Amino acid sequence: MEKHNAASDLRLTVRELSNVYEELSLLYKLSGLFSTLNVNEICENLVNEAINTVGVKTAAVLFLNEETQALYTKAHRGDWDEDRIVDGGIEVIADVLENSKPIAFCKLENVEHQDSLHGLQSVLLCPLAGKGKTLGLMILADKSSENEFYSNDVKLLKVITTQAAMAIENAFLYQEIEDLLLGTIKSFVKALETTTQWTAGHTERVTMYAQGIAAEMGLDEKKMERLRICSLLHDIGKIAVPRDILNKKGQLDREEWKEIKKHPALGVTILSGLKSFDDILDGIKYHHEYWDGTKGLFGLKGEDIPLMARILAVADAFDAMTSDRPYRSRKKIGETLNEIVGLADRQFDPTVVEAFQKWINRQHPAFLL
Ligand SMILES: [Fe+2]
Repeated sequence: MEKHNAASDLRLTVRELSNVYEELSLLYKLSGLFSTLNVNEICENLVNEAINTVGVKTAAVLFLNEETQALYTKAHRGDWDEDRIVDGGIEVIADVLENSKPIAFCKLENVEHQDSLHGLQSVLLCPLAGKGKTLGLMILADKSSENEFYSNDVKLLKVITTQAAMAIENAFLYQEIEDLLLGTIKSFVKALETTTQWTAGHTERVTMYAQGIAAEMGLDEKKMERLRICSLLHDIGKIAVPRDILNKKGQLDREEWKEIKKHPALGVTILSGLKSFDDILDGIKYHHEYWDGTKGLFGLKGEDIPLMARILAVADAFDAMTSDRPYRSRKKIGETLNEIVGLADRQFDPTVVEAFQKWINRQHPAFLL
């Protein structure tokens, strides 16, 4: 009898310990999975992790719109139908959100809202609880191995969603700060453009051309966003160039050009306090380099010049040539394009020029006039 008790005690202890071990190794794994500041990536990882850890066929992350209090799907996998589950199971979901506690339904035929959850065997709902508020919830449906969810499933899902909610809140905060920062810098750029005579709208147009080139080249969403920020900031250094030079009517002399040419380095100095902007700072610094290594400001050549800078070089030159300057009037688009094509392999990266040509040709004929 005593022997039996010892064995079952040991079995229980081992089971308990293995649960704790599972929880701890999950926590360790999650710290890597959620160490990104991209909310979409966090949610994709959350769905995949929940599916693998709990062993279900369907999972979805729903966010709560703070203004309308409506839920919307942020990420999902498996047989997910937002209309069926969210609209139909609204009371069940409201319960989870209100009490911020997980709920599991194993035999849905006994559930009051079974019509709305029709077709599902079992459902586990868990809030995405942030520090001060509920961000949304996670729904898991249909266990792969059996019909029931056990307390350990609920516990594991809670661990996963708690870590994810923390990561999501951090990402939101980061985004807010980045938006604030970019908004401030953009208003400086606008102020610069309106107080100098020949740069009005330059930044916005260069950003548009650069995005066009990047899309033609198939850059991913993340790189496109970094390039967008870099384009918005590429001439920020001109803030530190004397106004009388920027506003000079007539050709600039050698000394004045020397001052203007300082703007990429000045831009880097101005923004050097921004951590995690290294790639953007490189884009700014090298946007006046020459592909063949001649005449550049820093002597970089070919693919040693960061891609962002090579794209900006084409976008920047195109806008400068097609805009009026105090000392010359603008060139026509066709003529400018020919000139840029002629400079491929010398001043510009030929692949970038090719992408720009393709992008221009896709534009409305009115643009080409
Ligand atoms: Fe520039």
